[in-house]
Amino acid sequence: MSLALGIETSCDDTAASVIRRRDDGSCEILSNVIATDLSGHRPYGGIVPEIAARSHVELIDRVIGEAVDQSGHTYSDLHVVAATAGPGLIGAVMVGLTTAKAIALAHSIALVPVNHLEGHALSARMTETAPFPFLLLLISGGHTQLLRVDGVGRYRRLGTTIDDAAGEAFDKTAKLLGLGQPGGPMIERAATAGRKDRFRLPEPLRRREGCDFSLAGLKTAVRLAAEALPAPSRQDIADIAASFQAALARHLAARTARAMDLLEADFGEDRLLVVAGGVAANGAIKSALAAETTARGWRLIVPPPKYCTDNGAMIAWAGAERLAAGLAPSPGDALSFAPRARWPLAVPPAGRALGGGRKGPKA
Ligand code: KG4
Ligand code: ZN
Repeated sequence: MSLALGIETSCDDTAASVIRRRDDGSCEILSNVIATDLSGHRPYGGIVPEIAARSHVELIDRVIGEAVDQSGHTYSDLHVVAATAGPGLIGAVMVGLTTAKAIALAHSIALVPVNHLEGHALSARMTETAPFPFLLLLISGGHTQLLRVDGVGRYRRLGTTIDDAAGEAFDKTAKLLGLGQPGGPMIERAATAGRKDRFRLPEPLRRREGCDFSLAGLKTAVRLAAEALPAPSRQDIADIAASFQAALARHLAARTARAMDLLEADFGEDRLLVVAGGVAANGAIKSALAAETTARGWRLIVPPPKYCTDNGAMIAWAGAERLAAGLAPSPGDALSFAPRARWPLAVPPAGRALGGGRKGPKA
């Protein structure tokens, strides 16, 4: 059994959580605290890294304190403190990781620096029975990837976006339509009153082999559709939102279906698709994926929305899973671990060109 404190500060959310991982692999989430101050970013229409870092400094002591208090435990009960060490906004990551190092030193607790993407990758195992191997569709504000997950620390990338991430496409499209941020929930809400077949949007990479994604073309098609309407009504906006969401859902489902076909023979009886990241909260995307899994006899797991979007519990869980798998670093390595803006979870198979993919933190 291990009791883990998790700290997440890779972007704009300051989050902390205490979880218990039992030896049978089950999980109990004892607290899950999250604070987000978007007010400083609003005038700029997006996340400003320096403002995010300062906001973490202001919020982090209270958030961690509440997470520990609400768990009913004290620091001396903890076995491990895990913190996101990348990828993300470097100033933001530094705040969480440095705080975790201080807690680990002050209370003599093991420290595990966690890859934020591994947090998302393993998150479904907190609330569901999700044995390895499984296919993971990771769709968040910064990432859109298909990964084969064979165990803790064992990831193989099957596909990634060659331009925008899914959440980024939602956020930019919402901005264009004047719908506010975060864009995903705003588009989803507007789309409920819209006709998804009114605008014909392109199906990206339809003839392209493999499992990569491309979302920039959709975003441009939406911009052109919006610009063609001189004074868009609420109904026009709802129709564009619904058409965009449906096209994005179709694309994600089509590329995921390719990955399922690739792994079909390898995966045996219990073929499992896990979806993680903030965009997994979207109902239309869940339905499109459910249609593909049902048609192929796969099981589909989408964690509850609060564990899909960034949270401290998934970081605590990844730390506990690493500890249980014997993959925690030595105390010296953990304390000297440097925060990383860029930290790919897995590299593409050898010899495979990525066709001009991302090079930054979203790679
Ligand atoms: O995983 P996450 O909280 O942070 C990152 O690691 O990026 O994902 C945030 C992204 C945002 O782009 C947000 O617009 C999107 O998830 N999102 C959604 C929904 N809820 C959040 N996208 C579509 N539909 C939603 N309901
Ligand atoms: Zn995330």
